[in-house]
Amino acid sequence: MKVGVVGAGLMGAEIALVFALGGMDVVLSDREDAALDRAIVRLEALLDKGVARGAYLPDQRRDGLARIVTTTGLAAFAECDLVTEAVFESLEVKSAVLRSLDAVCRPDCVIASNTSTLPISTLAAALPAERRAGFLGTHYFSPVSRMALVEVVAGFETDPTRTGWIAEVLRGIGKTPIVIKDVAGFAVNRMLHAMIIEAVRLVEEGVATPEDLDTACRLGLGHPIGPFALMDVVTSDLCLQAQEIMHDAYGERFRPPALLKQRVAAGLGGGRSRPGWIRREG
Ligand SMILES: NC(=O)c1ccc[n+]([C@@H]2O[C@H](COP(=O)([O-])OP(=O)(O)OC[C@H]3O[C@@H](n4cnc5c(N)ncnc54)[C@H](O)[C@@H]3O)[C@@H](O)[C@H]2O)c1
Repeated sequence: MKVGVVGAGLMGAEIALVFALGGMDVVLSDREDAALDRAIVRLEALLDKGVARGAYLPDQRRDGLARIVTTTGLAAFAECDLVTEAVFESLEVKSAVLRSLDAVCRPDCVIASNTSTLPISTLAAALPAERRAGFLGTHYFSPVSRMALVEVVAGFETDPTRTGWIAEVLRGIGKTPIVIKDVAGFAVNRMLHAMIIEAVRLVEEGVATPEDLDTACRLGLGHPIGPFALMDVVTSDLCLQAQEIMHDAYGERFRPPALLKQRVAAGLGGGRSRPGWIRREG
C-alpha cells in the first residue's frame, strides 16, 4: 500500500512517520524543499529521542524514515491508495490542494483531510461529485506519533465502505479510530472546549487559580495535562478560534469567555514565544 501526505508541517510530517513506521511506502510533499528538509530533521530527532516508539506502534523499525520519499510536486500521488492533506487551515488553500489531487489521484484513491475546524462536507464541494464518496476527514491529534486517537469524519456524501476501510488501515498502523458525523468541532473538541470554557469561567469568578484547576484535572480526573497548561501549548488564540466556530454553530453554550478574549488581545496567548496562563515567561 502506498500513502501520500500533502503538507510537511507539524502534523503532516508525523502523519507520514506513523504510516512509514507502520510499514507503508509514503510520499510526503510540501511547497518547497526547505520545509521538507526541516520535516525530516525533526522526524530524525523524534526517532532519536524515542518519542515515536509509543506502545501503540506495531513496528518500531528505525528504517521507517527510509520509507518516506519527499517531493515538491504531486505527480507521485498518482500511485497512492490514500492521500492525506495537512496543509494550512484555510478553505481556499485546502480547496486548491484538493482540486490538484483530484487531477492526479486514481479514481479509487481515498482522499482525507486533517482539518480541525472546516466541515468535511464543505471541503468536499471542491471535488467533483464522483470523487466525494472517497473523501473524508481523518482528524489526528498532536503529537501524532504519540496520540493514538484519530477521528474519522464522514461527510454527507462519504461512502461508509471508505470510512470502514480507512478505520481498518488506521488500526493496522497502531491508531485507534472512532467514526463520527461531520459536525462543527467534531466530537473531541466539543468535549474539550465545553470543559475549557467552564475552567476559564471558574477563574473569572475567582473560584480557583489556573494552577489549582490544572491540579484538579490531573489529580482528580486523571487527565495527563490540565486545561490551562494545554491552552499554553496549543495557544489560547487557537482555542478562541475553535470556540468562536462552535459558538456560531451551537449558540450560547460555546460563547468564548471574556477573560480568554482579553488575554488573547493582550498577547498572553502562550505558544513558543508568549506568556500564557501557567507559563509566565514568553
Ligand atoms: N497543530 C495541531 O495541533 C493540529 C491538530 C489537528 C489538526 N490540525 C490541522 O492540520 C493541518 C496542518 O496543521 P499544522 O499544525 O501541521 O500546520 P503547519 O503550518 O505546521 O504545516 C502546514 C504545512 O503545509 C504546507 N503547505 C501549505 N500550503 C501548501 C500547499 N498548497 N501545498 C503543499 N504544502 C502546503 C506548509 O508549507 C506547511 O509546511 C491544519 O488543517 C490544522 O488545522 C492541526
